[in-house]
Amino acid sequence: MIGRLVRRLAGPFEPALASAYRGFFFNIEAFADRIAALGRPQQVVEIGCGEGALACALLPRLPAARYVGIDISPRVGRLFQGSTERAQFIHGDATQLLSHLRARADLVLVCDVMHHADEAAREALWSVAAQLVEPLQGRLVLKEWVRNRTPIYHLGYLSDRYITGDRVRYQTRDHWLREATQRGWGLRDEWSLKPWTANHALVLAPPSAQAV
Ligand SMILES: C[S@@+](CC[C@H](N)C(=O)[O-])C[C@H]1O[C@@H](n2cnc3c(N)ncnc32)[C@H](O)[C@@H]1O
Repeated sequence: MIGRLVRRLAGPFEPALASAYRGFFFNIEAFADRIAALGRPQQVVEIGCGEGALACALLPRLPAARYVGIDISPRVGRLFQGSTERAQFIHGDATQLLSHLRARADLVLVCDVMHHADEAAREALWSVAAQLVEPLQGRLVLKEWVRNRTPIYHLGYLSDRYITGDRVRYQTRDHWLREATQRGWGLRDEWSLKPWTANHALVLAPPSAQAV
């Protein structure tokens, strides 16, 4: 795909190029500000962490947190530039984290991942997130590029489909909230993120917290 070729040709400029391209669609630093304002988590887990962009933005804002990112891509954590003392990247399926973590995570992040997953994979992601998150105070932040009527939404879709080359299944904000609540998650907050309204995040409390 065009995106992969351009990234290969960019050589040492690849991180800056990848960041500028993503930045046109999504302000990850502003997202990290919102996440950091949620509290002071000890353990953060990111499912589908990709090359480490969110970890780069978030870890300086959470100096006491340990971070584990997992991704099925062999390029996991490849562009991470922070300290590896607190950050760990694992190549594998999210279920592997269940045996890896000693304690539940205060914060589980799933950023622009769900729309890459088919129905069975999404079910697995919801289930793993529920098992990873601390049962009472823990939070899942689900960030998606949500389907809406804005031109930029369609540009994002075309970019993923024809430049990145990904098979994507974008859904509306209501769809994601329904998927969450049907599985027992409770909505605690939601954020419309910069710079476009298609960037939307749900802050969810786990099914176990709803029963209390
Ligand atoms: C668009 S990237 C987002 C990466 C990162 N979360 C970020 O925001 O920079 C989507 C990532 O989800 C990963 N992914 C898709 N399905 C997954 C699954 N079932 N388990 C773990 N990672 C998955 C892909 O490999 C890819 O790296």
